Amino acid sequence: MLEQLNKLEKESTAALETVSSSAALAEWNKRYLGKNGALTQLLRSVGQLPKKERPVFGQAANRVKVALEAAYEAKVEMLQRKEMEQELERGALDVTLPGRPRRPGHLHITTQTLRQIYAIFAEMGFQVYESPDVETDEMNFELLNMPPHHPARDMWATFWISDDVLLRTHTSPGQIRVMRERYPEPIRVILPGKCYRYEQITARAEHQFYQVEGLAVGHGIRMTDLIGTLTEFARRFYGMDRHIRIRSSYFPFTEPSIEADMDCIICQGEGCRVCKHSGWLEVGGAGMVHPVVLQNGGYDPEEWSGFAFGLGVERPAMLKYDINDIRLFYGNDLRFLRQF
Ligand code: PHE
Repeated sequence: MLEQLNKLEKESTAALETVSSSAALAEWNKRYLGKNGALTQLLRSVGQLPKKERPVFGQAANRVKVALEAAYEAKVEMLQRKEMEQELERGALDVTLPGRPRRPGHLHITTQTLRQIYAIFAEMGFQVYESPDVETDEMNFELLNMPPHHPARDMWATFWISDDVLLRTHTSPGQIRVMRERYPEPIRVILPGKCYRYEQITARAEHQFYQVEGLAVGHGIRMTDLIGTLTEFARRFYGMDRHIRIRSSYFPFTEPSIEADMDCIICQGEGCRVCKHSGWLEVGGAGMVHPVVLQNGGYDPEEWSGFAFGLGVERPAMLKYDINDIRLFYGNDLRFLRQF
């Protein structure tokens, strides 16, 4: 039986050498070490040996068993490593593949529109002047000729921060700030910035939006200068064949006050859905700076005169780029923003 054991050891060791897959290894394990495997059976037959031969055989058989089990474990590990290496090779990194491109960012549609407006007014000699978003009641209303309880305050639904501090409802308070800073220089500035109104948000109206205020103060400035400036702006921004129409209007800080319209850029004045079949689109409010406002800015109205206007920013961009919902400007949806 010892001979049989030796033969089994040689045979099984040789067989293990040729094993190269985990399926074949499982098969080998079953054949030699399994419940009915060759070695197990040989071990069981130890009882058939004469008593004194049993210890020698038993020891030898155990040695073989331990050796085969160790060889088996080593093979398991080797196969696992080999399979892992093959796996890695299959899924290997191809460093020659081009990388995923990163999209460069760009300016927001509102910023782009603002810069177009700055460029147009810069050519007409207007500087950009910035004034704060958080204003006092005094700047936003009182010094613009709207004392407390003046009914015209109702034109601007206001976000109040305290009794006398608010989010500016328009860029007009900047007029007072520039005048007080520049007196006695003549002034030609635009004042861009965000304005806030306590209003329902719809496709046409936001509670935050941009305005560009214009202010010119000098000697002998007249209504025709204002109309010429607005006409020039409309033509440079929307196209050379634009026409401006003036309607009389009311603002407490201008006298006389006007509203400027231009012929609809969609239907050329024929009448369409965008201009509500009137043929005209609103450009902005404007007028000659009210004597009281000039005075509040430090300029003597007997000596100085000026004009002021207030333009929207999102609305012109909506017209120019055919955008139908103002909320898109503040939604930060990249699918929208990437189009411009
Ligand atoms: N501030 C006015 C508004 O917000 C617009 C305006 C500006 C009118 C300057 C006249 C002069 O509606």
